[in-house]
Amino acid sequence: NWTMAEFVDKELIRIKALVGDEGQVIGAVSGGVDSTVAAKLMKEAIGDRFHAVLVDNGLLRLNEAESVRTTLTQGLGINLTVVDATERFLTALKGVSEPESKRKIIGGQFIEVFQETALKISAEAVGPPKAGKIDWLLQGTLYPDVIESISFKGPSATIKTHHNVGGLPANMNLKIIEPLRELFKDEVRILGTKLGISESLVWRHPFPGPGLGIRILGEITPQQLRIARQADHIFIQEINDAGLYRNISQAFAALLPVKAVGVMGDKRVHEQVIALRAVETTDFMTADWYPFDGAFLKRVSSRIVNEVEGVCRVLYDVTSKPPGTIEME
Ligand code: XMP
Repeated sequence: NWTMAEFVDKELIRIKALVGDEGQVIGAVSGGVDSTVAAKLMKEAIGDRFHAVLVDNGLLRLNEAESVRTTLTQGLGINLTVVDATERFLTALKGVSEPESKRKIIGGQFIEVFQETALKISAEAVGPPKAGKIDWLLQGTLYPDVIESISFKGPSATIKTHHNVGGLPANMNLKIIEPLRELFKDEVRILGTKLGISESLVWRHPFPGPGLGIRILGEITPQQLRIARQADHIFIQEINDAGLYRNISQAFAALLPVKAVGVMGDKRVHEQVIALRAVETTDFMTADWYPFDGAFLKRVSSRIVNEVEGVCRVLYDVTSKPPGTIEME
């Protein structure tokens, strides 16, 4: 793609000029498309003077922190720090079940952890031979986000408080750098491919910042996390195996905070319920539930009930957006 090649050249020159020969940049990454593409672009422009930070909030999917680490470091050569803040997040979330409270706690902890990490990396970056501490913050803002924040000031913006990566670390005085701010999502994918990022990453479904925290309805405990992780993993694996991943915009398993009765073997059980959700959408503002065939749902349901301890029923969510939202909290 010749236009994109031109974009890359121009953007690399712009970043280098902006940051200078000694400037240091920090940015949060999630393993998602936008932050990975932005990070790779920074790596191409300034190498290890770009510091990526992955905050493991303990609410990521099965093996996710490790696989993001491998992809970003070994795969893309990005200078990455992974912070395992699981304990801290789970402690702060103890006893909390109200969805907006969970979001606020997760968002607040994220900003604190990121800020502490930024200060630490910045302190280490000072001193010879590499003069200068960190003075730039990378944000993976896309064009639609720019438009939304200009035109979207009404109450509709706060139906759910979406926290996106990158609360500005206070008392560091960081300047913002946004290399994707002129691009739409499909262009970010083309750019990602051009930068050598794998197809599977470039086409990854979005995953919300609060992670499994808003897919475990009610209180988040290590036990609930285990169930949600295993069920989600089976669902996504079956979607991949059936060749359906790219037909679906977003899919996940949610863990409901209720118990139902079932029979396993010859024993009566009273266990939890998993809800599967899969949607097709172009803009995530409206969405339709995905029409799986019966055999597929049967296979997923039987695997989850048999393989995930603590689950005796599986439901499929057939609610469109609106009136439903994509997430269940
Ligand atoms: P809803 O549930 O509002 O989701 O229909 C629309 C899209 O936004 C994602 N989402 C979030 N992303 N923080 C995020 O970073 C959040 O709190 C959040 N809530 C929803 C959701 O996964 C879907 O892609």
